[in-house]
Amino acid sequence: MKLLVTGGAGFIGSNYVHHRLVAHPDDEIVILDKMTYAGRPENLEGLPEDRFRLVEGDIADRDIVHSALDGCDALINFAAESHVDRSIEAPGEFITTDVFGTFVLLEAARDLGIRHLQISTDEVYGSIDEGSFTEQSPIEPSSPYSASKAGGDLIVRAFNHTYDADALVIRASNNYGPRQHPEKLIPLTILNALHGDSIPVYGNGMQVRNWLFVQDFCTAIDTVFDKGEAGQVYNAGGPDELPNIEVVMTILRLAGADESLITHVGDRLGHDVRYSLGSERTEGLGWRAQVSFEDGIGRTVAWYRDNEDWWQSLRAGEYREYYERQYGTRLGS
Ligand code: NAD
Ligand code: TYD
Repeated sequence: MKLLVTGGAGFIGSNYVHHRLVAHPDDEIVILDKMTYAGRPENLEGLPEDRFRLVEGDIADRDIVHSALDGCDALINFAAESHVDRSIEAPGEFITTDVFGTFVLLEAARDLGIRHLQISTDEVYGSIDEGSFTEQSPIEPSSPYSASKAGGDLIVRAFNHTYDADALVIRASNNYGPRQHPEKLIPLTILNALHGDSIPVYGNGMQVRNWLFVQDFCTAIDTVFDKGEAGQVYNAGGPDELPNIEVVMTILRLAGADESLITHVGDRLGHDVRYSLGSERTEGLGWRAQVSFEDGIGRTVAWYRDNEDWWQSLRAGEYREYYERQYGTRLGS
């Protein structure tokens, strides 16, 4: 099979490409990636040169999408602006990529009659105080990020319903693992802990996230890609739900850093208090998350410890300016 993987140079997309080319030794992959601050050539190191090709371009550009799709049997769309805090700062790119870009891909896949698997998030359901979201839960996104992802998901639904397009959605809970950009809580905490820098915890730190190790998400994507029904939504939730403060304390312990680094800072605007995702439908297709948080977080801290080259250059560039804007005043530095 020849697959188009959009956003394949980012965190989850690159983990998926590495996974797929090992799990499916006859597959070829074309990666279409705009190489934003989140897309990194380093993420593609070690891939078999003869079985993947990187096309640098925007999923919102029809011509590039059509040429990248040449000869492809299906597409998986990971490409997105993905960070809630950046969506609060500047929502425009989120609408362009996550909504309009998804539409461009859907139209191209529909015209070619190929499968479009949309990678989405539990954040489209909003926040839940008790119990877990199912695929029947209403869509009630709270942030510009989650609203733009919900927009993409709804266009998938409409394309299936209206044109019988072979399009479907998988929604994951918070992912973590190797190669995640340090703007997100877990890698930010790991890198700050390794450097002895303050760790910004929003509000009281009691917000709960449902953590899924990225390798488990890769197997969920394979399962839904192979067995999922067009027009359906499939949830993939992690095995553990933890308050942020507990996640931070665990990382500090693993990194051998002191709890005094924890600094409670002003809360995120419109912060979702709790996510919890039920995965019965996807489990019905034979998928199970295998990696506990305890196991996965140990592997993740070890990866960042062992891969300083990956993050050294990152910390010096655009991220430094972002960090200053986001945390400079809040941390009082
Ligand atoms: P990421 O920010 O690490 O990577 C996004 C990738 O998309 C980057 O390589 C970037 O260059 C590329 N990209 C951005 N705009 C583009 C455009 N217009 N055209 C082409 N490429 C573009 O994100 P991630 O964490 O790997 O998330 C991947 C997908 O999974 C996203 O759709 C996200 O909404 C979804 N998701 C993420 C999580 C999570 O916890 N990270 C959880 C559930 C779902
Ligand atoms: P994040 O990794 O940004 O993922 P999401 O907002 O998509 O769930 O944040 C995870 C949780 O950690 C969320 O409740 C916000 C919180 N958080 C902090 O407390 N401090 C931080 O510096 C960051 C980035 C996040």
